[in-house]
Amino acid sequence: MPLPPICTTFEPYFLLSDERLHDIVNHFRKEMEDGLASYGKDVAMVPSFVTGVPDGSEEGTFLALDLGGTNLRVCEVRLFGQHKFEIKQQKYKVSDELKEGEARILFDYIADSVDAFLTEIGSDISSNEPMHLGFTFSFPVEQTAIDAGKLLTWTKGFNAKHAIGHDVVKLLQDAFDRKHIHVRCSALVNDTVGTLLSRSYQSGPALIGAIFGTGTNGAYIDKTRTVQKLGEDKIKQAEAGGEHAGQFMVVNTEWGAFDNGRNCLPVSQFDNKLDRESINPRKQAFEKMVSGMYLGEITRNILLHLIDSSILFNGYSSKTINTHYGYDAAFVSAVEGAKSPEEVKKLIISQLGVKEEHIGEGDAEIVQWAIRVVAIRASKLAACAIAAVVQHTGNDKVPEGEEDKGVDVGVDGSVAEFLPNFSERVSEALAVLLGKEGGKRVRMGLAKDGSGVGAALTALQAKKAMDKRT
Ligand code: GLC
Repeated sequence: MPLPPICTTFEPYFLLSDERLHDIVNHFRKEMEDGLASYGKDVAMVPSFVTGVPDGSEEGTFLALDLGGTNLRVCEVRLFGQHKFEIKQQKYKVSDELKEGEARILFDYIADSVDAFLTEIGSDISSNEPMHLGFTFSFPVEQTAIDAGKLLTWTKGFNAKHAIGHDVVKLLQDAFDRKHIHVRCSALVNDTVGTLLSRSYQSGPALIGAIFGTGTNGAYIDKTRTVQKLGEDKIKQAEAGGEHAGQFMVVNTEWGAFDNGRNCLPVSQFDNKLDRESINPRKQAFEKMVSGMYLGEITRNILLHLIDSSILFNGYSSKTINTHYGYDAAFVSAVEGAKSPEEVKKLIISQLGVKEEHIGEGDAEIVQWAIRVVAIRASKLAACAIAAVVQHTGNDKVPEGEEDKGVDVGVDGSVAEFLPNFSERVSEALAVLLGKEGGKRVRMGLAKDGSGVGAALTALQAKKAMDKRT
């Protein structure tokens, strides 16, 4: 059955033309440049103060803490050198009350979780020295040192009070100290920075670390000098302190906030509804079209509209479809992976709770269409972010006289891992944006556990710098 005409009228918002993609990349580059030049921009371009990238030889045992995905994770990471590591980890649930309550209670809970981990799982490393911990805190932070940074804003459903504007390392260290837990938080890391470091540790130098999970964001390596907003003194200081003559620094772009001003993203009525009903309206515009937290919700808004227009399910909805965030990206992945409309129909009944008698001929195809266009848009936009960084760093061309080593991108997150066709679609769009040859040069590879290994690697770098000073 052909799709109802109403569906095709929405397609321009989702099936973006090549021209549109190029336009988005141009805006992206401009916002990145603005963020490097001054503070307070949406695409915050946060300097990470990580000036060395691992080569796989690093060794040591560190604690890592990961807040900002679905769970709180505490890990003990052993780096063995030779690109090898081992992780012991435990996940702890973060309830909505903790996410939206007092920050002090949230940080006490985190400290208690580390304590429980050390008692139950961690190795018994008896030493007078506190254990060094790398804190992967995956929210926008204005970082002022490798172990200091103020929270700019919450994202991804967190909204704890009295945290914005505070140094999150201090909030955590104070909680450890209150409870006499012998741990020192020596590094603050964004998950994208962790992914970049972890990918480099495991499989050689990478340019970008990207997360396509609950949220989306990317970090990359730039010349320290390009981060002009740091000012000459800080730039010189960072250049002197780095391991490899310090000319480079990892920058956390916070690209999830790209185009909050709505100058180029294809904002449909479904995106507007999602944004208006979110806890952070007019923020994270790009993230709300790309990341796992929102993919289900955009499709839910489309389905609701089609139901209310009596085009789908004979006008009948279900409790799940009527519920805000009633289903998540796992449904999107399942439908994308389905082999036939029959299979989609079964998913509609089992996952969305629609009654079989309400599912008419062609309805499964309509649902499949809604899911597909939303997934296609997410992957094309993901490619725009990567292409913008590749172009910004001049990596869209092979430098004259140099060997072509390609561009390596480490990715992590549930969308990258579980959404069928995601990486193929990203590659296709990269070929449009960077040219066939240019597109082929970009290698994307999963860098799982980036937030654990990356935090350990950053804690190691911080410890080395500390030892050097004392
Ligand atoms: C959100 C956060 C960002 C993080 C990303 C992926 O965009 O603001 O810091 O890296 O989610 O987890």
